[in-house]
Amino acid sequence: MGYETRDPRETKETLQPEAGEQRRLSPTGQRAMQGRDVYVPRPDDVNFTDGQGRPIAIRTFSGSDQTYIRAYDRNVQTPPERPDPGQAGYANLKLEPDQTGNTRARLQDIYTAPAYRDNGVGSTMLNQAEKVAGQGGASEIYGSLSYEARNEAAVHKFYHNHGYSTRTSAQGGEEVYKKI
Ligand SMILES: CC(C)(COP(=O)(O)OP(=O)(O)OC[C@H]1O[C@@H](n2cnc3c(N)ncnc32)[C@H](O)[C@@H]1OP(=O)(O)O)[C@@H](O)C(=O)NCCC(=O)NCCS
Repeated sequence: MGYETRDPRETKETLQPEAGEQRRLSPTGQRAMQGRDVYVPRPDDVNFTDGQGRPIAIRTFSGSDQTYIRAYDRNVQTPPERPDPGQAGYANLKLEPDQTGNTRARLQDIYTAPAYRDNGVGSTMLNQAEKVAGQGGASEIYGSLSYEARNEAAVHKFYHNHGYSTRTSAQGGEEVYKKI
């Protein structure tokens, strides 16, 4: 793919939202997609065949204040050069300081399109998020469970299978976390 060999300084682009692309993203994700941010694609695509034989690519983009992880079925869409909503799934990760001055990574969103669920896409995006968090010096990765996800056994099982624990967040909601 082109961007893997180019000088990153030549590939910086201002992201422009495309029609309809904001509908599934969290408020944080929406703000990030509204332009004025500059992206440097990371040369570490993950390619695998999912449980239904589809060729899945996980592409990771570094933004100025967060990392965009996007999943594509290569039979449906060639992974783009800059982050769009993600045809098969998406996750967004932000590095931030904790109260003690250490770095932690907040998983802001993780979503697999319904047609691709239970086939390894979410797990691969989560693994990639943990890798990016570790490379960024984070000692913990955590995320809030969305209102709908709080009572969903499948979501709890998903995180539990990946070694996450649950705790009450500072805002009183439920969050999942893992030391890395
Ligand atoms: C939570 C969510 C992101 C998980 O994504 P996913 O792509 O379905 O996740 P995976 O396929 O990697 O893992 C789900 C299951 O498939 C299994 N699996 C993993 N790789 C597989 C493969 N190659 N083939 C078949 N099954 C596989 C996993 O073992 C896992 O099984 P489990 O039920 O025992 O946990 C997805 O369900 C989702 O988007 N939910 C709605 C949004 C949401 O709630 N997000 C979380 C907010 S906190």
